[in-house]
Parts: sequence; C-alpha cells; structure tokens
Amino acid sequence: MASVILASLFHPSEVVALLQYKFSPKVKYDYSNDKVRERIYYHLNNTSRSFSAVIQALDPELKDPICIFYLVLRGLDTVEDDMTIDLDIKLPLLKSFHEIIYQPGWTFDKCGPKEKDRQLLVEFDIVIETFLKLKPEYQKIIADTTKRMGEGMAHYATAGVHVNTTEDFDQYCHYVAGLVGLGLSGMFSACNFESPSVAKREDLSNSMGLFLQKVNITRDFLEDLRDNRHFWPKAIWGEYADKMEDLAKPENKEKAMECMSHMVHNALCHMQDVLEYLGQIKNPSVFHFCAIPQVMAIATLNMLQGNYNIFTTENVKIRKGETVWLMKESNNIDQVAAIFRLYARQINNKTNPLHRQFVDIGVLCGQIEQTCVQKYPGSTKELARLQAGVLAGQGKTVAVAAGVLGGAYAVKKYIL
Ligand SMILES: *[C@@H]1O[C@H](CO)[C@@H](O)[C@H](O)[C@H]1NC(C)=O
Ligand SMILES: *[C@@H]1O[C@H](CO)[C@@H](O)[C@H](O)[C@H]1NC(C)=O
Ligand SMILES: *[C@@H]1O[C@H](CO)[C@@H](O)[C@H](O)[C@H]1NC(C)=O
Ligand SMILES: *[C@@H]1O[C@H](CO)[C@@H](O)[C@H](O)[C@H]1NC(C)=O
Ligand SMILES: *[C@@H]1O[C@H](CO)[C@@H](O)[C@H](O)[C@H]1NC(C)=O
Repeated sequence: MASVILASLFHPSEVVALLQYKFSPKVKYDYSNDKVRERIYYHLNNTSRSFSAVIQALDPELKDPICIFYLVLRGLDTVEDDMTIDLDIKLPLLKSFHEIIYQPGWTFDKCGPKEKDRQLLVEFDIVIETFLKLKPEYQKIIADTTKRMGEGMAHYATAGVHVNTTEDFDQYCHYVAGLVGLGLSGMFSACNFESPSVAKREDLSNSMGLFLQKVNITRDFLEDLRDNRHFWPKAIWGEYADKMEDLAKPENKEKAMECMSHMVHNALCHMQDVLEYLGQIKNPSVFHFCAIPQVMAIATLNMLQGNYNIFTTENVKIRKGETVWLMKESNNIDQVAAIFRLYARQINNKTNPLHRQFVDIGVLCGQIEQTCVQKYPGSTKELARLQAGVLAGQGKTVAVAAGVLGGAYAVKKYIL
C-alpha cells in the first residue's frame, strides 16, 4: 500500500481517494449458508477482481444472472485461449458450449496445467447447476450469447489470429466483447430496470464492448505478439511496418508511435456511442456497473497514447490510485462525461501533430466536447471540479501534505 501511495504522490486527489478506500468499511458478502453459491463467487473473485466488485454491488435481481453470465463466457474463453487443446476437440466444444450449459454434471479437465482458469472448468458443474436455477429469460440470453460467441471463436480459431482489415477487427471484437454488451443490455431490459430501448440499440451496446476490447488489444501488444496472436489489424500496422514484430524494434520507434496514434484513433471512434449508451441508463447500480469499465478504458487509452513502453514492456497499467479515484468519481452521467472530456483533451494534447491521425483525433475529441456540452451540460461543472483536483496535484504544498499523509500511513502500517 505504501508504494501505491508513493506512485500517486503527485496526484493528491488520488491519495485522498486511496486513503478513503483503504479506511472505508468494506462491504462483506456472506455466502456461507450456500456452499455452491460461495464457490461460484469464489471463482468470480479469483478470475476477475475488478468485475467481482462491480458485479457483487449489483441489485440482487441481476447479481447471480450476471455472475453466471460472466463465468460461462469465462469458461468458453478459457477453452479458446488454451493452445494445448487440439483443434478437433476445441472446435466442437466452442460450437456446442451453449448446449453444454444445460447438461447437469458436465466438467472439463483437459486444459493444460498452466492454464490459469483450468480449475473453473474442472468445477463447471456448479456453474451449470446455478445457471439452471436462473429465470428462463436470463438463461436464454446467456445461451444465445454463448452460441454466437462460440461460433465466432471457432471461426477465428481456424483462421489463425491474424486480423487483416479494420472490418475484421470490428468483427473479432464483436464476437468476444460486443456480444457481451448486447447480452447485458438484454438483461437490463428484461428485468425492467431499464427501458426496452436499451436492448434495442444494439449498435450502442456493441460499441460498449468494442471500446473495452480495443483498448485492451492496443495495450496488450507485446503479450499477444509473444503468443503469436496478431490482434492489431494489418490494415493499420501495415502502414508503418512490414511485419508486426518490427514495431518493437528500437530503430522503428517513431513508426511505432505513429501506429499507436492510429490504434488510439480507431478505439476513440466508439467514445460517442459509449456516452450515448450511458446517457440512457437509469438504475444507479446498473450505471455504476456499466460506467466503471468504460472510464478505466479511457484512462488506459490516455496512458497508451505517446507511451513507448507499450512496445518494450509487458503489463503496463494505470496507477492503482487513478483506478480508485475514477471509481469514486463515476456516479452519474455528468461525472462520467467530465472524465471523458478530461482524458480526451489529454489524448488530443499529447498527439504528435506530425502523425497522420492527428487531425482525425482532434475531430473526434472536438465532437466529444460538443456532445457533452449539448447533452450533458452538468459535465462542465464536474470537469472544473476534477481539474481543480488534478491541478492542485501540481502544487507543491498539496503534494507535501499528501506526502505527510502517505508517510503517516506507512508509519501506521509499519507499527501496527
Ligand atoms: C477475493 O480475492 C482476494 C485475493 O485474491 C481476497 O483478498 C478477497 O478477500 C476475496 N474476496 C472474496 C469476497 O472472496
Ligand atoms: C485462482 O487463480 C489463480 C491465477 O489467477 C490460479 O492459478 C488458481 O488455480 C485459481 N484457483 C482456483 C481454485 O481456481
Ligand atoms: C488474413 O490474411 C491471411 C493471409 O492472406 C489469411 O491466412 C488469414 O486467414 C486472414 N485472416 C482472417 C481473419 O481472415
Ligand atoms: C481488459 O483488461 C482488463 C484488465 O486486464 C480486464 O479486467 C478486462 O476484463 C478486459 N476487458 C475486456 C473486454 O477484455
Ligand atoms: C499539453 O501538453 C503540454 C506539453 O506537451 C503541457 O505542458 C500542457 O500542460 C498540456 N495541457 C493540457 C491541458 O494537458
């Protein structure tokens, strides 16, 4: 924790958020009266800390369905990811996974020993047991999504993951993430927390998933390249290098940075849809659930732009303090619009004017400003408040105060 605070030392609003987070009473969820449910949530927590928190904070009506939705897709994804499974076992599995979830007792232990989520499939019978207890309308949405995603994954498993055109890129991201957006919107509307129109605007739901997926793919350049997965579309990197791996060579640094601007632009194209989607969400727990991954994504995109480390170091992340600060500041559409404006301005400001995407990025960022001012006028006040916090971070006095706080905390931790 002390090092986490140190990393945020020049961002006092983050230090404050971190300390509040550290000392806030932790919400405890107790599942001990139901062993299966306890184990289900254990797996959710173990596969994704970040999703676990937002899912568990959902209204009880949606909590189990969305947890199971996540674990079913995680199971499917684990099958897709595991390169030790032969294609003649993998393909039928991917294509029939939507039927498997109706077979009580089904488990799978053929994943390689190194597959980090192998245990989830070994115990998959409990996921199925819980799935079969969900309301039929949720079961149907989960099964439909699994079917379409499994087909898409089977397609890319055979084609080898070499994404060529930007249309392929959108299609791949649609299968692995856009469909999740569609499924979730279906659930929000099915339980009447949201209007039926949320599920009907499939274009917006799709963009919610595409934005998250594209940011991750852009960030995970090195890691995916190492596993011989070319998710960056050739139509983009091909403008800057003959082979994708050439981007990581020191002599191609300038090209790599320009290519990054191109990828950032491609992801930013979904920003407008994301804000429109979030603007229609009424239920506060649903809003929080949807908004948090999106603000993390725009913050990550801002970290990627102009950052050469992406091509040299795996696992580049935003600061923990920034994450906690973002979660605290994402409670309504005005706040989220303000965060989008803040990061869009920074991305725009960081883009090298010599890059061919410079003008296009400027246009997208300008559109975001305009949309927010027109549709979410309250975001202007929120933005001023956020900037005051961020600017204060550059003031020495506050940094020192934060340092004292951080130091006091470190001492307290050391003594106790
Ligand atoms: C989730 O996992 C973390 C460690 O990975 C643990 O500290 C935390 O208590 C777990 N939460 C629940 C609810 O199981
Ligand atoms: C929990 O996750 C870790 C890695 O993320 C994995 O190695 C471990 O097997 C998982 N444990 C269980 C019981 O699923
Ligand atoms: C991309 O192009 C290569 C070579 O033409 C081809 O082998 C591969 O299947 C294509 N990828 C997709 C996803 O269509
Ligand atoms: C993106 O990456 C984050 C952090 O690794 C992960 O929690 C999240 O599930 C990923 N999202 C998508 C849509 O792949
Ligand atoms: C824009 O970038 C310059 C340096 O590149 C920096 O000095 C300035 O503070 C930035 N402005 C904003 C609003 O981020």
